[in-house]
Amino acid sequence: MIEKVKTRQDLIDAYINFFREKKHKHIPSSSLIPENDPTVLFTTAGMHPLVPFLLGQKHPLGKRLCSVQKCIRTQDIDEVGDEVHHTFFEMLGNWSLGDYFKKEAIEFSFEFLTKVLNLPVDKLAVTCFGGDKRVQNLPVDKEGAEIWIKLGLPKERISFLEGGVFESKKNWWGPAGETGPCGPDTEIFYWKYKKPAPKSFNPDDENWVEIWNDVFMQYEKTKAGAYVTLKQKNVDTGMGVERTLAVLNGLEDNYQSSIFQPIIKEIEKMSGQKYSEKKREMRIIADHLRASVFILGDVRTIKPSNVGQGYVLRRLIRRAIRYGRLIGIKENFTSHLSKSILPIFPDYQELHTNHKFIAEQLEEEENKFNATLEKGLKKFNELGNDKLITGKEAFLLFQSYGFPIEMTQELADEKGIKIDLEEYNGEFKRHQDLSRTSSAGMFKSGLADDSEATKKLHTATHLLNEALRQVLSKDIRQKGSNITPERLRFDFNFPRKLSSEEIKKLENWINDKIKAALKVRREEIPLRDALSSGAQSEFGAKYPELVSVYTIEDKRERKGWISKEICTGPHVENTSELGNFKIIKEESSASGIRRIKAELREE
Ligand code: SER
Repeated sequence: MIEKVKTRQDLIDAYINFFREKKHKHIPSSSLIPENDPTVLFTTAGMHPLVPFLLGQKHPLGKRLCSVQKCIRTQDIDEVGDEVHHTFFEMLGNWSLGDYFKKEAIEFSFEFLTKVLNLPVDKLAVTCFGGDKRVQNLPVDKEGAEIWIKLGLPKERISFLEGGVFESKKNWWGPAGETGPCGPDTEIFYWKYKKPAPKSFNPDDENWVEIWNDVFMQYEKTKAGAYVTLKQKNVDTGMGVERTLAVLNGLEDNYQSSIFQPIIKEIEKMSGQKYSEKKREMRIIADHLRASVFILGDVRTIKPSNVGQGYVLRRLIRRAIRYGRLIGIKENFTSHLSKSILPIFPDYQELHTNHKFIAEQLEEEENKFNATLEKGLKKFNELGNDKLITGKEAFLLFQSYGFPIEMTQELADEKGIKIDLEEYNGEFKRHQDLSRTSSAGMFKSGLADDSEATKKLHTATHLLNEALRQVLSKDIRQKGSNITPERLRFDFNFPRKLSSEEIKKLENWINDKIKAALKVRREEIPLRDALSSGAQSEFGAKYPELVSVYTIEDKRERKGWISKEICTGPHVENTSELGNFKIIKEESSASGIRRIKAELREE
């Protein structure tokens, strides 16, 4: 037991140990890029990797889980710069997958806050779901409020928020993407000032900081927009590490905690300025570069680009650079600053394995931005001559010269130029929709949509993974995968274009396995056994101690199978269900990485 929880590591240890004692299994943080949800770009909550299990699939580690998950949320990017907002953050979470429900969840939260973190009850307040008549007549959560009162929370410190399903700020959480598990929640707030908290709680008073959210996930939002009751009642909670740590140290500013101070100190050194005078700029630099380091360091190699996650990454890096220049940092600094971020997170092995890649990519992006910055400024001056920049022009500055809109806006303000933001937003949204559609293909497995079509393509992906090794090279490994109901897409390491004979050979190898009607078997075994049995794993991915392994059996082989992969599924039961496998495209995806798109056709 930790005497006084003061540091990031103390908090994480205290949380995980507490829930372990309550019979939760600790699961590792998943990638920042969701495997199972093509409707969003980043993992936004600890529950994200657990979607299939919240929907009813059995989790190999049981019904009680806990984790600390790295997350990115960009919808609040404009608010970054204040004391409490971040694009990257860590979320502590505990889950019940159809096991305990409201009473235990609230009791666990209360016990952890007041007994382990020793936070005084008289600085706590909560919101509870106020019901929603527009959707299935969802009732007011009186039960939740009563549990809080029984634990000792005064009535005046409970606020019911209504109309939760449609308004994002109310007591309803999820789904994380467009569809998936969701439900009413109770949010826990802490009075951040040293002076006593007001007797009654006003959730609109920003001096109350939300630190934890307990969601009672009982519904699934479907594609058609309906809220269907789930077979199992789940609990999903999320507690922000940055905010809670600030609270524990009596700080009103998250950036003054030990998670950010080494970064801020380095920015002060490089710029020769003081944090107290350049708070907003330094917070943006620290936040955006921390997020960039985590995106670049993720196991799913993302680079700055103009689409999908790469596009968010580019915006974060460039915005940080712009603020760096504003506070007087003249030389390239992002790569250097990344070195002060890494030691804060010794537990994310991937950051340390990829530290060279992180530094190189930052340097390259900063050079690129330096090059377009001047040209862009010239263009900006031309465009701004008549004192108005249209939305289309602002978008051109963004797309061709990499100027984030905030930067164009700032430049315009300095020169008294107006920007047609409405038109810009329209252009931007149109572009986002396009890139969202094109990047909706980046993720492994089709679990968000476990239709028959995606299930079949998922099994076909396993066959392709093996076929590549059999036909081309034993060294081939999966570097990325995405499945839509129409096609699969698979990235792998290989140095050159494939010949048409090789493509034919791959198709033949796979179609032979489909015709042979091979059985697909699922088993749950310890990770160690899975790896020693020859199961394919994703390079760099972290797995829990117990994993599910899918084997495609083949009695014609000496070892009795042709494919074995650690995978959450789902898959068909027999390869005979797949139809005819056809490669429709083979192309380069990145340097040294090839990409295959393929479909399954009716016989
Ligand atoms: N999913 C909920 C949230 O993100 C609780 O973890 O707040």
